[in-house]
Amino acid sequence: MTFRTGDTPTPDTVILTHHLAREYQMGAEVVHALRGVDIQIKKNEFVACMGPSGSGKSTLMNLIGCLDTPTSGEYWLNGQKVSDLSDDELARIRNKEIGFVFRAAAHLRGHVRQRAP
Ligand SMILES: Nc1ncnc2c1ncn2[C@@H]1O[C@H](COP(=O)(O)OP(=O)(O)OP(=O)(O)O)[C@@H](O)[C@H]1O
Ligand SMILES: [Mg+2]
Repeated sequence: MTFRTGDTPTPDTVILTHHLAREYQMGAEVVHALRGVDIQIKKNEFVACMGPSGSGKSTLMNLIGCLDTPTSGEYWLNGQKVSDLSDDELARIRNKEIGFVFRAAAHLRGHVRQRAP
């Protein structure tokens, strides 16, 4: 289903991005990390994001995880438009809706070893 500006996602849509863009200002340069990303993920879908280094995976995860806000475009999480929320409102959403497992989980290793038989 094509999502258009002004639409609301269907109730079974957990994550929807519409023309999502993120630019980083680097001195006089602008880095276009994401240029208009459209994603729809439904309930119970299992999705992987793959791409070469620098293609914008972390930038996208930061936006989807409500750790960052887009330069432009829409992000809908569980039926709520979260792309234009304040930092405090995003913190509340992170607390309730989102789980993150970071790659650099070195602090977990000792814990796991201790508990191994
Ligand atoms: N904080 C930042 N400031 C400036 N540019 C950034 C910043 N973060 C990312 N970029 C740039 O945005 C683009 C996308 O980077 P990103 O880290 O999202 O890619 P990635 O797919 O996660 O790469 P990797 O596989 O190496 O982790 C790259 O050109 C990167 O240099
Ligand atoms: Mg990355």
